[in-house]
Amino acid sequence: MQQPAFGKTDIASWFGTYSNRLHDDPYPFYDYLLEQEPVHYIEERWFWIVSRYEDVNRILKDPVFVREYRNAMPEGTEIPEPPPEWKPVNELLNNWMLLRDAPAHTRLRSLVSHAFTPRTMQRLKTGIQEIADYLADRMEEEGRPDLIASFAFTLPVIVIAELLGVPPEDRELFKDWSHVFAKVLEGSDQTPQFAEQTMKATSEITEYFRLLIAERRAAPREDMISDLLAAQEKSDALTEQEMIATCVLLLVAGHETTVNLIGNAVRLLLTQPDQHALLLERPELIASAIEEVLRYEGPVQTTSRIASADCEIGGKTIPRGQSVIVMLGAANRDPAQFNDPNRFDIARQPNRHLAFATGAHFCLGAPLARLEGEIAIRTLLNRFPHMRLAEDRADWRPNILFRGLQTLPVIV
Ligand code: HEM
Repeated sequence: MQQPAFGKTDIASWFGTYSNRLHDDPYPFYDYLLEQEPVHYIEERWFWIVSRYEDVNRILKDPVFVREYRNAMPEGTEIPEPPPEWKPVNELLNNWMLLRDAPAHTRLRSLVSHAFTPRTMQRLKTGIQEIADYLADRMEEEGRPDLIASFAFTLPVIVIAELLGVPPEDRELFKDWSHVFAKVLEGSDQTPQFAEQTMKATSEITEYFRLLIAERRAAPREDMISDLLAAQEKSDALTEQEMIATCVLLLVAGHETTVNLIGNAVRLLLTQPDQHALLLERPELIASAIEEVLRYEGPVQTTSRIASADCEIGGKTIPRGQSVIVMLGAANRDPAQFNDPNRFDIARQPNRHLAFATGAHFCLGAPLARLEGEIAIRTLLNRFPHMRLAEDRADWRPNILFRGLQTLPVIV
């Protein structure tokens, strides 16, 4: 009898030590979860992992699954206070809409959401195209560029910095800060050194935005910080602390996600010549191709919630107060939802993937990410129709939450 490819110990190790086998190609592991362990409790770590589309969809939409631990527990439950030196970090994260429940979440989200409307996207289009053209020119000069450093990372970073109103000369500063907060979200590094790094990044980035907000208050410009300041007469407007936290959240989202969408899209097209040829032949498939990249190799693979009541999911009871990791990447490969889910098909219809999650926290930046993805891939295909990989080996980031490449050397 053939040995099963995975077992229960793999599930714990998936969330524990870094494993090349699982990170280079997590999809056979996801197949195992979907088939054998769709709702699994990891005792060593006190959390559940849920992978089927139907269950993931339900958890993300059902308000019984919350973000804040205090909302999951009975009133009066004592929540341990973090150490005093951690207070600034907590204050920052506590003002991230991503980590809040209604009503705080609703208020924070509605005050920022006007920055991501279709009209705003239309306004941004020309600017994004100019940046993509400029970066493609530079790639041509390089000849054998690293697509991640030269294009996929740089494009979204410039776009988010311009949207917020961060001066171009300060962009470099944000790279390290952003990586620190991405790691905080992932929750994988619990070392005292990393705690110290996080506290340092928090105080630096908070101070940075405090100064920038003061500058924009004195001399408004056409950017998001000035817009948020202009809305401050409203009674429920963002406080300065909330504004700083929102800027940091948007910066992290802008730095850590769309880069993976562009990088993963290019690698998929260059390794699947039939789909590459199809997109060159039928450029009108670009929007559908981007959706398929999001489904097939999504930049964000997991998120989490806490049960605020005992809940039955897939025949098992998740008790109140326990955390659930929802496997977006696995749900997007669920054969019960997608025909032939392990096939990359840029013309796939319908394609109701969960790469941007669903429910109250559905990605606020989705219209921007889609626009950037479409412009980036269209520009690269037009400019470099014969682009090819310079190395076969895929250099994946050692990260569970964000799936993307560290480098992608190409020959243009
Ligand atoms: C392809 C790129 C992106 C992917 C795959 C992605 C994915 C996600 C996912 C899965 C969530 C929901 C997490 C949860 O429910 O727990 C989320 C939330 C969010 N995303 Fe994105 N994101 C992307 C790009 C962006 C960009 C470019 C921005 C803004 C610049 C952004 C801003 C946000 C914000 C503010 C939230 C929180 C929404 C809320 O809590 O209501 N995202 N994103």
